[in-house]
Amino acid sequence: MSAVVLYCRAGFEGECAAEIQEKAGELGIYGFCKAQADSGLVTYHCMAEEADHIAKKIAVRSLIFARQLFVRVAECNELEIQDRIGGMLATLKALDEDTLPLCGELQVETADTNEGRALSALCKSISTPLRKALRDAGRLTERDSDRRPVLHVLFRSTHSAMLGYAYTYNHSPYPMGIARVRTPKGAPSRSAAKLAEAFKVMIPASDFDSRVSSGMKAVDLGASPGGWTSVLVYHGMMVDAVDNGAMDDGLMQTGQVKHRREDGFIFRPKRRNVEWLVCDMVEKPVKVAHLMADWFIEEQCRQAIFNLKLPMKKRYPSVQQYLQAIRDRFAEAGMRHYELSAKHLYHDREEITVYLRRT
Ligand SMILES: C[S@@+](CC[C@H](N)C(=O)[O-])C[C@H]1O[C@@H](n2cnc3c(N)ncnc32)[C@H](O)[C@@H]1O
Repeated sequence: MSAVVLYCRAGFEGECAAEIQEKAGELGIYGFCKAQADSGLVTYHCMAEEADHIAKKIAVRSLIFARQLFVRVAECNELEIQDRIGGMLATLKALDEDTLPLCGELQVETADTNEGRALSALCKSISTPLRKALRDAGRLTERDSDRRPVLHVLFRSTHSAMLGYAYTYNHSPYPMGIARVRTPKGAPSRSAAKLAEAFKVMIPASDFDSRVSSGMKAVDLGASPGGWTSVLVYHGMMVDAVDNGAMDDGLMQTGQVKHRREDGFIFRPKRRNVEWLVCDMVEKPVKVAHLMADWFIEEQCRQAIFNLKLPMKKRYPSVQQYLQAIRDRFAEAGMRHYELSAKHLYHDREEITVYLRRT
């Protein structure tokens, strides 16, 4: 039996498994998941051609809890520490082109756990010699190519690794599926990284300049002390920062921020010229979901990024329910042209980030 391997935040294996099970079911595939608690990994077991079909058809971008996915073609469990590369090549030798297509790039990674991070030096040091050996063995193209699948090597321990492939058009380009982001210099809170990550991961690079650009008007609900506002200011936007709490002085001195000491659930802009609404208020997710729906139905903004806090239990069905509440509101209002996506980002803990855009 083959498998699809998915990466997620440790502790969210249940949500990741429920989601892939549901999406695979929609394709008429009925496999089963195995997931060790807190491993940051889920394996979905099915027939080889089904695993390949999933890798083609279930967009990683559309999955909320998975950061990356690949088709597992081999598992090496007793690699000799002195010759891990030899061990992996011996395993791959038995696989024909139908099982493992010629790949154009190599990604060597680990799960996002403490045990995984302890293996990152190994991943770094083995990458170059492994790449060369895979090229010599005819498993990788002579030069990096994004026209061929990506070969994944996922180290589970110093002597075990999973090997597989993913299609470049359905693949997170970031190692371990985690985008590294920089926050603006002097950002007043670490939350800035969340919005920076959402911009990077949830907006396609090809559309970035048209969707996030200088001169746009933005509203930040629950803005204090100003981490998210600093990201909007960094991108040249003019921001209404709504919060009773204090805003960072340096940010106020940029001249790009107006501090509105108001209730974020009541505030509305005076003019209909707002491109971006962002919201990081710590509130009941259903309440936030309805507030966001209100803004779009009232045509108060064109794009939004907001957080929905996750409940302690039944996290996946609850997320489905919150997103459905927004869809239902739009359907009732006759609003059909929009894009709604959600992601459990690296910087998200007990919450997900949602991107909403009028199309
Ligand atoms: C997690 S903090 C926001 C951090 C901010 N995004 C940043 O990057 O610095 C949540 C904020 O929401 C604000 N908040 C909660 N309920 C609010 C409401 N009804 N109206 C306005 N702000 C609210 C709180 O005062 C708090 O400052």
